[in-house]
Amino acid sequence: MQALHERDRWSAAQRDEQLLVLGVTPKLAKTDGRINASGACMPQNTWWKHGIVYQIYPRSFQDSNADGIGDLEGIRRRLDYIAGLGVNAVWISPIFPSPMADFGYDIADYCGVEPIFGTLEDFDRLIGEVHARGLKMILDFVPNHTSDRHAWFAESRASRDNPKRDWYIWRDGKPDGSPPNNWISNFGGSAWQWDETTGQYYYHAFLKEQPDLNWRNPEVRAAMHDALRFWLKRGVDGFRVDVIWHLMKDPELRDNPPDPNYKPDRPEIDSLLQVHSNGHDDIYAIVNGMRRVLEEFDERVLIGEIYLPVERLVTYYGTEELPGAHLPFNFQLIFASWTAPALARMIEDYESHLPDSGWPNWVLGNHDQKRIAARIGQNQARVAAMLLLTLRGTPTMYYGDEIGMTSVDIPPEAVQDPWEKNEPGLGFNRDPQRTPMQWDDTSYAGFSTAKPWLPVSPLYHEQNVEALSGDGSSILNLYRKLIASRRKHRALSIGSFKLLHGEGNLLSYERQHENERLMVFLNLGETEIEARLPENRTGTVIVSTYGEPQAEQVPNTFTLRPHEGVVVSE
Ligand code: GLC
Repeated sequence: MQALHERDRWSAAQRDEQLLVLGVTPKLAKTDGRINASGACMPQNTWWKHGIVYQIYPRSFQDSNADGIGDLEGIRRRLDYIAGLGVNAVWISPIFPSPMADFGYDIADYCGVEPIFGTLEDFDRLIGEVHARGLKMILDFVPNHTSDRHAWFAESRASRDNPKRDWYIWRDGKPDGSPPNNWISNFGGSAWQWDETTGQYYYHAFLKEQPDLNWRNPEVRAAMHDALRFWLKRGVDGFRVDVIWHLMKDPELRDNPPDPNYKPDRPEIDSLLQVHSNGHDDIYAIVNGMRRVLEEFDERVLIGEIYLPVERLVTYYGTEELPGAHLPFNFQLIFASWTAPALARMIEDYESHLPDSGWPNWVLGNHDQKRIAARIGQNQARVAAMLLLTLRGTPTMYYGDEIGMTSVDIPPEAVQDPWEKNEPGLGFNRDPQRTPMQWDDTSYAGFSTAKPWLPVSPLYHEQNVEALSGDGSSILNLYRKLIASRRKHRALSIGSFKLLHGEGNLLSYERQHENERLMVFLNLGETEIEARLPENRTGTVIVSTYGEPQAEQVPNTFTLRPHEGVVVSE
């Protein structure tokens, strides 16, 4: 969530500024020519290291029962499309019973399926067919908070001496009746909700309908671990854990300090530095607890949603004694300044912070962030696809980015996002990136036969899977080629990374595995530029963002067209 986690991150621009202020020699110069050793010495055969993750927002992928909302059966019917892309795993945003105050991120039962999405039988059928295609399935796990309709919360709020009282975070108000501290909800307003029944406040980092669980209570941990096991036993291959760094807060609940740089055009949460409301030191033991549950089963993956600056992000890999997440989500591409020097520095910076056993990963978009095509335009969205799929580390794609879906205008009366409803007009509505997948040119883009819960993009007549499949130079076919190349060339999936160039509009790097060496050249500008292969090498273009001719020979120095990216093999 962009603004939501703004205070925790350094944008590339801020970092560049900081480097200049500190007079730091750019990393680029210092480490150019160095092959990252950690790429070469780790076991690389695990599926989540060489694979690609495809995120599905289930409400918007495919409706099968004409209620205008996507469902599990819809996903099942589209599995051939997903497998045909060449990705290795699907991550499905929450599908559990939910009053949908935050569209599934408010869970009322961790061990069931929301009727809008189908039944447990539908789920079992889906996972069976996912596995039959050689794909993996990752579910969303939302452990920081439940829905206020969860039976646990109903018990907890019933009386102060209820056995589940301590499962949530209850406190008296201050003597003047005001909330226990100054913490602000990520969706605006105080993070404390007064509850008349027992005369205390409860804490909610998000909506008041999403009370935070108390992870310091061992019964909570045991219940949540059992919920994980419930799905692991059904064959789920891993979890993306929602706001994992939020789970442990300051036990003394001290006030957060004000952010002196806060401007009122930002969401209210940004007015305070989130020093005490998340990421308390005991978080690593909690993450490790989940990791250990996953390790009771073979080859499962733990992915953490974490919006933190890179030096704090990488601590979530854990240590040898206390292993953490396999993949703490790396969102830096989402916030990067889209220039070659900024991207080069960001990649090198990330690589240099990774612990030896930490496997990298990259994310270009998700259901909380403005779509990549809306951020940098359609031309550069192709370059971004090439970057995502040729960097070292597991890539995560967001449904629809492969057809160039962009932000869809949402008229005020159609707004669904609770955050936009709470803090309207700041520009953080998440609906524009959650609109229905565009399959074909029929009504509602083939997503549903009924009016969808969010408007379909007006661009869908041309921008749909069917139309783009038939166009050899479409972004969809570019994605397919890039994914096929990543599958074919181990240098791309598990090879080492070496930056070649990151100045002007040219970003280039080399990926190597054993004797195979591939180079990637990206033109981030709208004019032609010259690119040069290292030493006196020449090569062959195996993929161009322009789509056409494959296997074209390139001399040592060659021209990249405007917005062109190429993968070159020696
Ligand atoms: C995560 C989810 C987001 C949700 C929030 C609260 O950031 O990605 O969609 O609103 O957590 O669960």
